[in-house]
Amino acid sequence: MSSTSSVVLNTGVSMPLVGFGTYKLCGSEEVFQAVDAALHSGYRAFDTAAVYGNEADLGRALRKLLPKHGLTREDIFITSKLGPKDQGKRAMEGALHSLSELGMDYIDLYLIHWPGTQGVAVGDPCNPGNRAESWAALEELHAQGKLWAIGVSNYTPAHMQTLLQSCKTPPALLQVEFHPRLCQTDLRRVCEEQGVCFQAYSSLGKGELVKHPVVVEVAKGCERTPAQVLLRWAVQQGVPVLPKSSHPARVQENIGLFDFSLDVAAMDRLTALDDGHKYCWDSSEVA
Ligand SMILES: NC(=O)c1ccc[n+]([C@@H]2O[C@H](COP(=O)([O-])OP(=O)(O)OC[C@H]3O[C@@H](n4cnc5c(N)ncnc54)[C@H](OP(=O)(O)O)[C@@H]3O)[C@@H](O)[C@H]2O)c1
Repeated sequence: MSSTSSVVLNTGVSMPLVGFGTYKLCGSEEVFQAVDAALHSGYRAFDTAAVYGNEADLGRALRKLLPKHGLTREDIFITSKLGPKDQGKRAMEGALHSLSELGMDYIDLYLIHWPGTQGVAVGDPCNPGNRAESWAALEELHAQGKLWAIGVSNYTPAHMQTLLQSCKTPPALLQVEFHPRLCQTDLRRVCEEQGVCFQAYSSLGKGELVKHPVVVEVAKGCERTPAQVLLRWAVQQGVPVLPKSSHPARVQENIGLFDFSLDVAAMDRLTALDDGHKYCWDSSEVA
């Protein structure tokens, strides 16, 4: 990747604009092969979560593969996330478990994965209290140097406002679904105003959006692939992305974003696809 392919978080730390998503990668062999292909292609950031069940496999793969690629722990950026079952009282334990599964002394970025708590109804008024308790635990681990940056995922503008008004340490990043069919204008405005990095997940619409006729046409027009067009649309707006693939050729394709750009007409055509469509889950009902 080029030197312009990173963003600086409000902690002063730099994070690559393209990270490797690991959702659905499962089993030590599949994780190992994918991480090998990702490091080979130039990825230096990896996104996992307690609920993906692959933190230990990712940690093991990196310990074996970093020396092979002439890299050290300091050369890579690891994101993981607190599982909804650990929201609230168990948050400290949950985050320490992620550290131990990864086999690392620190995690570069740790997120509250979901605004709700597993087993608690979405409308239950104890959800905000649980989130606040989780955030306090993350703040403590951040102060201890175990979590270098902390943030949230799947928060709505209302969840963000509450957190921003009550926190001691402001969130460094918000990770949400983002692609031309879901432009998240309100959330992006909150993040921009508050200095919170806005990061995209499911930029390829879980593999579905690459087939959209407008995306295919824009890709033909600039002689790139539909996946590259979708990812470039985000990074050209300064939004970090996390493409996931189990296929080495696609892993490489998905990071080839910095030797072309989309013209204004192509950007506008893609942005005009916004119809609020979500390929993933919806957190708007969580109290
Ligand atoms: N915080 C959250 O709640 C949350 C939610 C969802 C995702 N995420 C993170 O974001 C990452 C990415 O999101 P995602 O995995 O949901 O979806 P995605 O990146 O939008 O799409 C992944 C799908 O697209 C396919 N694909 C990948 N590259 C392709 C290419 N070049 N051409 C055509 N198809 C391609 C993959 O299949 P193959 O593997 O077969 O190539 C896979 O089925 C996740 O892995 C995870 O790390 C976070």
